[in-house]
Amino acid sequence: MEFTQEVQKATDPIYQKISKVMPEIEWSVHAPYIHRINQLKKEKNAIILAHNYQTPEIYHGIADVAADSLALAIEAAKTNADIIVMAGVHFMAETSKLMSPEKKVLLPDMDAGCSLSSSVTGKDVRLLKEKYPGVPVVSYVNTSADVKSETDICCTSANAVKIVESLGVKKVIFLPDDYLAKYVASQTDVEIIAWKGICMVHDQFNEKEIYDIREKNPGIKIIAHPECPPEVIKASDFAGSTGGMIDYVKNNQPQKVMMVTECSMSDNIQVENPNVEFIRPCNLCPHMKKITLPKILDCLENETGEIIMDKKTIEKARIPVERMAAIGR
Ligand code: 13P
Ligand code: SF4
Repeated sequence: MEFTQEVQKATDPIYQKISKVMPEIEWSVHAPYIHRINQLKKEKNAIILAHNYQTPEIYHGIADVAADSLALAIEAAKTNADIIVMAGVHFMAETSKLMSPEKKVLLPDMDAGCSLSSSVTGKDVRLLKEKYPGVPVVSYVNTSADVKSETDICCTSANAVKIVESLGVKKVIFLPDDYLAKYVASQTDVEIIAWKGICMVHDQFNEKEIYDIREKNPGIKIIAHPECPPEVIKASDFAGSTGGMIDYVKNNQPQKVMMVTECSMSDNIQVENPNVEFIRPCNLCPHMKKITLPKILDCLENETGEIIMDKKTIEKARIPVERMAAIGR
């Protein structure tokens, strides 16, 4: 892939937007891919849905929609495209397929998993339901279609409390994220029976780190994802989904902020918030980072990495996702 004059001219408006977070030398590697992917999207009537944890060249260069997992699920149901490429992880691609079963949904790397999603199986949920008969199951969207098939309603970190309370019951089974379950329990009177899954990225943050950053940066705003340990959330000024964290920065324009989450978030939104200084102790998600421009190009060109699910699974697993989407944010 060559950085020709044609490529440079076509991609320059994108580069002007992100030049503050990307050196020119790096851009010359990404730009040919960005140019070709954007051409292919038009030729094939394809759309790229990207999670907020994708790198800036994906987030700003080729994404048609870049958002949190709730918005991506809703977007997948609305699109008129023939092909959806998920620049995210496997459960997100599966969720897109559930929301748009007639569309071709592609994932550029089938090994892009999630420690939460892999912590619980459909069989585990069946056993839980036997142990707690009649107690509804709320599953985080970070789960496989098998788990969703055993679920009453899904949630994301953007609407977990609202979803739990929408059921009008005293007790729910909430899985698989133990920390999100604890966060929800801190915000509601509904009794939460939790699973012991963790996000390998957010679990790495600790309370001491937060206090040290505050001490070194007086006045800093610290905003955390609810997948973080409870003591980290307690030490923070705000907790919310990736979309919620982005809105916090946009609306409050803090002088200095630390986003206690995956590293790419700060890079991505620095572009739209030039006056905000981002302090960046952050952790990388190895699964999200499996998605790259060359893999996206290959998957779109050859239509590989298709999400295939049998009709029965789709019919069962889409119900809790649709119930979640109807309740919204
Ligand atoms: P949200 O975008 O829903 O906050 O999800 C975070 C996440 O862990 C995705 O992997
Ligand atoms: Fe899963 Fe955590 Fe990575 Fe999100 S950041 S995909 S929850 S491992």
